[in-house]
Amino acid sequence: SQPMMRMNSGCDMPMIGIGTWKMTPCQALDAVRCAIGFGYRHIDCAHVYQNEREVGQAMQDKIADGTVCREQLFVTGKLWNTYHGCYEVVKQGLEKSLCDLKLSYLDLFLIHWPFGFENGCELFPKSPDGELALKKDIHFTNVWKSMELLVHERLVRNIGVSNFNSTQIDQLLQVATIPPAVNQVECHPYLNQVCLSTFCRERGIQLVAYSPLGSPGYENRTSPGPIDDPVVKCIANNHKKTPAQILIRYQIQRGHAVIPKSVNAERICQNFNVFDFCLMEHEMNQLLGLEKGKQGRVVQYTDACAHPEYPFKELLSEGAE
Ligand code: A2P
Repeated sequence: SQPMMRMNSGCDMPMIGIGTWKMTPCQALDAVRCAIGFGYRHIDCAHVYQNEREVGQAMQDKIADGTVCREQLFVTGKLWNTYHGCYEVVKQGLEKSLCDLKLSYLDLFLIHWPFGFENGCELFPKSPDGELALKKDIHFTNVWKSMELLVHERLVRNIGVSNFNSTQIDQLLQVATIPPAVNQVECHPYLNQVCLSTFCRERGIQLVAYSPLGSPGYENRTSPGPIDDPVVKCIANNHKKTPAQILIRYQIQRGHAVIPKSVNAERICQNFNVFDFCLMEHEMNQLLGLEKGKQGRVVQYTDACAHPEYPFKELLSEGAE
């Protein structure tokens, strides 16, 4: 069994999870079944990925065939931006995911982004002018109060955030009676998040690394990612491991949980097989030296940049950095 990461709530999270972003429904059904078969116990989901019904089916199948029981799985869901509202609206957001995932509770529920969209069934609502309809009259600190109620109602075991910057984390901690357990953010050697990671650690918040391979193949990626980096390839050769395994191991050794996505059985297996070697300090430092600043960020969401809580303002200021 794999190492666990202890959260500030006292609960443990398995260090490696299977990411389900960009899986088609059909791929998700096979990939999640396959991942659980290979020993994954942590499944990272979100309503906006539009595959939660199949992820839920896959979990049920593996429970039915005796591979796991519900209590052994650690399932993360995320409140989509169109559910930023009063408690009833937030609860609806959770209940939609619980229903699709066929679960009675989530192990972890995150605010997916610090900004909201107009409420309704459209995942990406448009205003009459054709622009994304941002919702600016509710702040994430308000949404957090409802997230806390979901814990009290025992619908979720832990709560956290995703894509929050350090200013936003501080604002949240000002109002929180339950502090966020994690901040899930993009993290890989081209965007190593050293500052945010330290900031979170000092406040007892665990970092979960998404796009740990730099999301090769993602439409926003216009230049080669870390998986094709010569330094990463060289370290991989030295250890007789693949670049992906180096990138995953690098997160583990930084104390981050990590959620690589793959729909391919061989790669799903490979990505979990990172507990039989150790990167040396100089290798970790070489990887940390690959940082590219804001150029390294792949997931930017610039459609929402007009929202006051758009988290990556540094991307917008021309010439900064
Ligand atoms: P596939 O799903 O066909 O395996 P990230 O987790 O950083 O978003 O990266 C996901 C991307 O990386 C997907 O395109 C996935 O393709 C690919 N990928 C996942 N695991 C590996 C691996 N071990 N080697 C190479 N590419 C991988």
